[in-house]
Amino acid sequence: MSEKTIADRTTAGTPEQTGGVQTRTIDVRTPSKDYQVLVGAGVIDELGPLTHAALPKAQKAQIIADSNVAPLYGDAVAASLEEAGLSCSMQVFEAGEQAKKLSTLSDLLEGLAESELSRDDVVVALGGGVAGDMAGLAAALYLRGCAVVQVPTSLLAMVDSSVGGKTAVDLAAGKNLAGAFFQPSLVVADIDCLDTLSPQQFTDSVGEVIKYGVIADPQLFDQLEAHPLSVDSVDPDQLASVIARCIEIKRDVVQKDEREGGIRQILNFGHTIGHAIEAASNFQLGHGSSVAAGMCAIARASAARGWCDQEVAERIVALVAAHGLPTDTATDHQELLSYASHDKKRHGSTVNVVVPTAIGTVEVRKVGFTELLDLIDLGCRVA
Ligand code: GLY
Repeated sequence: MSEKTIADRTTAGTPEQTGGVQTRTIDVRTPSKDYQVLVGAGVIDELGPLTHAALPKAQKAQIIADSNVAPLYGDAVAASLEEAGLSCSMQVFEAGEQAKKLSTLSDLLEGLAESELSRDDVVVALGGGVAGDMAGLAAALYLRGCAVVQVPTSLLAMVDSSVGGKTAVDLAAGKNLAGAFFQPSLVVADIDCLDTLSPQQFTDSVGEVIKYGVIADPQLFDQLEAHPLSVDSVDPDQLASVIARCIEIKRDVVQKDEREGGIRQILNFGHTIGHAIEAASNFQLGHGSSVAAGMCAIARASAARGWCDQEVAERIVALVAAHGLPTDTATDHQELLSYASHDKKRHGSTVNVVVPTAIGTVEVRKVGFTELLDLIDLGCRVA
């Protein structure tokens, strides 16, 4: 990654179509920042010109990636940035959720200072949710904020964590407890990166895709019922279209409520019980799988309470099962309550739980801990 200054490119060379996959551009406008999200095949090769177009003053880029992703895409990303005139360096951290902590964040911040990045320069978050969350937070803190470009390489990061500006590290007391809302300046989602995911990693992420169908889009839900997503069976252009649709839904929500004071909470559908399942598994069960089981649990409980028709819960459970994701948990209910009631989204002695009212609509209900345990009892099998 040599330092060089070349090229005076002021326009992004966005490919309209590569390998039969149309590139989709989603415009995001939030109170704190406007930016574009690109979804396509091979778009990572255009990262340099796209970054230059979004951040014309940037001269340096610091790529932050984990030890799995850096060898796969680090060179290609650096080459594209350098070709667009940005000098590049890369920081690599040990792959895994256990790296998402304050000491790694501290190393990343020291690395940005060592590379002498200025406020005009850019952090490039390359990888899945851990890299995106942590590099995003480093960018939010460094010099009180320098730009970050998100380059998500997992399906979960593409449809959820790279868009909307949530950044965080974990604390001993729980996941994502120290963070900031800090929007990226650009998001480049290259579906070719999904080729290196294992079928399990791909399937895990589909939990979040199903979530978007339930909270906002009955057509997307129908489409997933008719054509379940799997790593080998899905047509690349259909996959890009599904990813873009999820991002549009998230965009529409985040534009209305950037800092989760209200409607943004609907993006947490399945997460109250899901996070508890994930934490109780000591993070051995993937986030998307945990959310999938959490969605099924709250859907069954909602049907039992009469908040939605039984058919709604049955369709959610059937779609989750059709994707090979867990529909229930054997975790002890008191343990689930304990994790759920310590979630960062609690408000005093209540939590806001997102419940389905139909396929495509949800509502937020404030429940006390006793009622939350009732919902867990109604939604989850007895351990
Ligand atoms: N992952 C949920 C949100 O960004 O609000």
